[in-house]
Amino acid sequence: MAQVSQDGRTWLLTGPASSYAVHVTDRDELVHLHWGPRIALADAEALARRPLPDDWPFESRLDGREEYPVEGGPRFTRPALSVRAGARRGTEWVFDGHEADDGTLRLRFRDGALTVTLHYRMRGDVIERWVTLHNGGPAVELLRADSATWTLPDREQWRLSQLHGRWAAESRLTRSPLTYGEKVIGSRRGHTGHQHLPWVALDTDATEEHGEVYGCALGWSGSWRICVAQLPDARVQITGGSGHDDSGLLMLDTDETHVTPVFAGLWSDGGFGGASRAWHAYQRTYVVPGADRDRPVLFNSWEATGFDIAQEQQRELAERAAAMGVELFVVDDGWFGARTSDRAGLGDWTPNPDRFPGGLKPLADHVHALGMQFGIWVEPEMVNPDSDLYRAHPDWVQFQPGRRRTEFRNQLVLNLARDDVREYLWEQLHGLLSAAPVDYVKWDFNRCFTDAGWPGDPYPQRLWTDHVHGLYGLLDRLRAAHPHVAFESCSGGGGRIDLGILSRTDQVWTSDNTDPLDRLAVQHGFSQIHPARVMAAWVTDSPNTMLNGRVSSLRFRFVSAMAGVLGVGGDLTRWTGEELAEAREWVALYKEIRPVVQRGDLYRLRPPEGGLSAVQYVLGDETVVLACLQAQHHGEPVPALRLRGLDPTASYECRESDEVHRGAVLLHHGLPTGLRGDLDAAVFRLRRL
Ligand code: DGJ
Repeated sequence: MAQVSQDGRTWLLTGPASSYAVHVTDRDELVHLHWGPRIALADAEALARRPLPDDWPFESRLDGREEYPVEGGPRFTRPALSVRAGARRGTEWVFDGHEADDGTLRLRFRDGALTVTLHYRMRGDVIERWVTLHNGGPAVELLRADSATWTLPDREQWRLSQLHGRWAAESRLTRSPLTYGEKVIGSRRGHTGHQHLPWVALDTDATEEHGEVYGCALGWSGSWRICVAQLPDARVQITGGSGHDDSGLLMLDTDETHVTPVFAGLWSDGGFGGASRAWHAYQRTYVVPGADRDRPVLFNSWEATGFDIAQEQQRELAERAAAMGVELFVVDDGWFGARTSDRAGLGDWTPNPDRFPGGLKPLADHVHALGMQFGIWVEPEMVNPDSDLYRAHPDWVQFQPGRRRTEFRNQLVLNLARDDVREYLWEQLHGLLSAAPVDYVKWDFNRCFTDAGWPGDPYPQRLWTDHVHGLYGLLDRLRAAHPHVAFESCSGGGGRIDLGILSRTDQVWTSDNTDPLDRLAVQHGFSQIHPARVMAAWVTDSPNTMLNGRVSSLRFRFVSAMAGVLGVGGDLTRWTGEELAEAREWVALYKEIRPVVQRGDLYRLRPPEGGLSAVQYVLGDETVVLACLQAQHHGEPVPALRLRGLDPTASYECRESDEVHRGAVLLHHGLPTGLRGDLDAAVFRLRRL
């Protein structure tokens, strides 16, 4: 709900548990009033009457208080907006009016011919913020246009949570005290990156289930920057948006409009767990397409066959997968062009005639006849120099004139800012999805931008932004033309996971690291912001072939992977009859608990750092607990798991033990697990009686 004061200068947005308030002063400064528990409009008006500090030559009265600090005037903070018009830099705006409907608010400011509109939209307790810039005059240059600045209340000591990583070690949670100055995270790589998820959370003394947590997450799949600043007077602001520091200015021509991505914010007083549950509910309800439909169990061929694929071998894998209860069979890399290794073929999206003589349709038909959906891997934004596409169009890639074209994994990045490139990709992909009955597309992206040049274009740096819009446009067009096809976002594992790509894809590939123990930490971090419903997790071979050779039981691998969208990625032709039979039982169990895992509320019972880690999901009367024991030491008894989210006065029947427990006992004393030794794991299903 959006409310406005009688003088039209104070606004209050209200969600189920939180409020947000802003005010325009009589000098047309837009100041932040409140973000936290619910307050009334009269409270916001009272806050608006509190005077700002006096001007002082060495400090700014506005720093740390403004909703969207622009460059210029009495400000020393990092500006969210920096504009150059001819010889003049900065912005000096006047308030130009507002619109407040149901849960949305638009505040309009004008600086000459430039109109700056700040957008706010309440979705539950998540506030989506973005900015539009419309230029009605001669061309101006946007040096920086962030999506939002979030202002925190005055507190003694803030703590910052972030998710850092690298390839095969994504989204690992770390918390550290915030100190004076700026903490900047982001990507300078052209995609979201493995190095940080675009999310931060700030708290002072929260625990997993108690205390205030402020969080912000960016919906952008290219380069980005989030800056958490603790100013000299200890005020804290978080500014974020697309583009890294020196990705270059954008030109805003006459009558052009620039729209920033969404930077979403959430206040919760339910601790880290409560904040995560609110982020998950928001994404399932408003972001991820069709999130009320559960995702199928998939098989992916990558770890089983690598590039060495052929129709017969894929048919055999498909038969074994179908017998196991798999619902979606995905052929990974290697089915097209001359793609027999990573050295050739990217860009040529036609089935390799030696490997698939009749195209993909015969295999797709076979997979369908086995009762499964059929999926394929693509990496449309890339090209191998050894490809027909590159030989025909060497100028279609990003490159700097007269410079070496940097190759990673023997590939170059196509310039998706070009209309002809996007049109080519549309024709190829639309043709592919029309030629064979494809139900699923795994969309990969396996290298960062390095030579982001576009010879001949007056503002080549726009490709940083336009590439992402090109990608979004292609996905939107393909989804519209093939509404039954689901899409997975992959970037060498979890290199492109953010709210922007999640609004156009059905699930994401979490990490190329499929080791079930390492995965517990990756999944713990991932779950801080994103729901299990989008987190793909595969059971692969033991010893682990991709990374570390670790030996683990099928039980441990399945329980670890059942915390998200279950997949199987091992070489099933080498699994024994007993292993295949056991796997079939695990898949059946997963299908039973799937609605609770994919749509339920997540409680992180114990983090992965200790010997015992566990997650719990609650949906209606059903509860599922997944427990994993890394190692038992000195014969110490493994602690019972204190459950959460239950009714203390109700009784719960545990299907595994046939025992009935009182909710109060499960909450206070816990559920005994019976786990022992190394890499042990168990699933518990409880039903409220
Ligand atoms: C990287 C992905 O993360 C893998 O799952 C696989 O699809 C390979 N690319 C294929 O090249």
